[in-house]
Amino acid sequence: MRIAWVRSLFLIAVSAFCLSAADDSNWWKHAVIYEIYPRSFGDSNGDGIGDLNGITQHLDYLKELGVDAIWLTPFYPSPQVDFGYDISNYEGIDPQYGTMADFDRLMAEATKRGIRVINDMVLNHTSDQHPWFKESESSRTNPKADWYVWRDGKANGQPPNNWISIFGHSAWQYEASRKQFYYHEFYKQQPDLNWRNQEVRKAMYDTLRFWMKKGVSGFRLDAITMLFEDADLRDEPYAQGTNAYGDRNVNTEFTDNLPEVHGVLKQLHEVTDEFPGRVLIGETYLHTAEDLLKMYGTKNDELQLPMDTQLGFLNKLSAPAFRSMLTDAETKLHGNTPLFVFENHDNKRLIDRYGDGAHNDAIARLLAVLLMTPRDAALIYEGQELGVVDVDPKRVEDVKDPIGRLGWPKEKGRDGERLPMPWNSDTDAGFSTAKTTWLPVSPDYKTVNVAAEDRNPHSLLAFYKTLIRLRKEDEQLRDGEFIGVDVDNPNVISFLRKTSDGKAVLVSLNFSAATQEVKLDLKSAGVSGTHLKKLLASSDDLNPSEVSHMSLPPYGSYVGHVQ
Ligand code: NOJ
Ligand code: CA
Repeated sequence: MRIAWVRSLFLIAVSAFCLSAADDSNWWKHAVIYEIYPRSFGDSNGDGIGDLNGITQHLDYLKELGVDAIWLTPFYPSPQVDFGYDISNYEGIDPQYGTMADFDRLMAEATKRGIRVINDMVLNHTSDQHPWFKESESSRTNPKADWYVWRDGKANGQPPNNWISIFGHSAWQYEASRKQFYYHEFYKQQPDLNWRNQEVRKAMYDTLRFWMKKGVSGFRLDAITMLFEDADLRDEPYAQGTNAYGDRNVNTEFTDNLPEVHGVLKQLHEVTDEFPGRVLIGETYLHTAEDLLKMYGTKNDELQLPMDTQLGFLNKLSAPAFRSMLTDAETKLHGNTPLFVFENHDNKRLIDRYGDGAHNDAIARLLAVLLMTPRDAALIYEGQELGVVDVDPKRVEDVKDPIGRLGWPKEKGRDGERLPMPWNSDTDAGFSTAKTTWLPVSPDYKTVNVAAEDRNPHSLLAFYKTLIRLRKEDEQLRDGEFIGVDVDNPNVISFLRKTSDGKAVLVSLNFSAATQEVKLDLKSAGVSGTHLKKLLASSDDLNPSEVSHMSLPPYGSYVGHVQ
């Protein structure tokens, strides 16, 4: 009798778990995903380089911030030419970052706190030290001879065509053992794989399975639009001007976003579907909503979250331009979830791109509200929630990112946005105990750090925490339909998030350096209320009571219920 009772309790628990797991399979639709650059997040063993245990040590901070998932940039074995984006073993851990046991512990501790783990997956290229490439370069007849993109040069010893690397100069590297060139979209130490080869696909799909079995909730697919190049190797058409490395600019119609990529995205979707609730995020720098839509797949059978980089990297504070991108995301993506992103480890921090010096704090809040309140999934990059800014190296000798050395001084590289995370005002900003850290800590770490901002209820960190909490807990912000209002206003973006019961949250964002008076009538949007009840605003004194009389200070942002 007792055993039967225990068994039925057990069955109830199991089915409840399965139900919630099943219900949870679309968790990413709403997610706040936090990008961690492991080298710069936390250094647990005092060698000046961040590591996996350093991430585990800081999981409570991430839980408190309210993030749903962490995306870890590559921590696999690598010669570190491109700081991990040159992988020499897809199923291991670089000793600099720890061991597989450290990864398993990180996974377990994150899961305990309800935080999912997303791995970076670099499918476009490997390191030139990967055994696959070593074999491939050894002869023209070895079993992996066709795993990379090899071609004969022109008769005069010149490369096969005019393609240039994103990281400067010809994208072709001569290899004496084969008397041929191989193609590299990035550094020459990052040869491109040949995705027309079925064995390459199978090998890579198996690495995805390896990590999903370890419990990862999905992948951020690096350079995913670049998997294929024109099979006929046609020259790229030249564009105006030169790049930071002195090369003539080219359009990239034969090396980026080729239609064949969709076949691979469908297969990746099938592979991840073997495991429930996994997500595919794409690094998709695309120029139109139409191109972005294709990445979801005509039958929703490709990526769940291709990054919408158009909104976050607009790089000018223009209400009409942001409005048009929000509208595109609502109307042209066929109901798919946009993934908005303002910062990552490859671009200047948002304050460097949008700040005006005088209103940086208000602008950081404005963009935080723009990121967190529409119908979207949201990416944030470590330190964004603190208002960290870029600090570029002053001298070329100090530059760590190779493109910064090649392109100096026009291109200073990406060190500036990869500085150690500032945890407190102690030595090394609490990041490390080393005498020197791999990149210096920011000069402003005494004031811009987690501990200081945690103590201050008015800090940017406190603002982000509230936004993330509201986004989860407030029914309208979570589930409401997005309705743009006052759509001709040249300075202020206003929109509603409205649920079917008629309840609505109003968001108003002033994109100008002047105070703006906003007079809204929400009846045509199906909202009869006129009173406002504040949820959050960029300053304490911004607290309008009527939608018909709102005065927004320079770059002010307001979020409130309409009643
Ligand atoms: C995009 C990554 O974000 C960047 O850091 C890297 O250098 C390139 N892809 C090449 O993997
Ligand atoms: Ca370390």
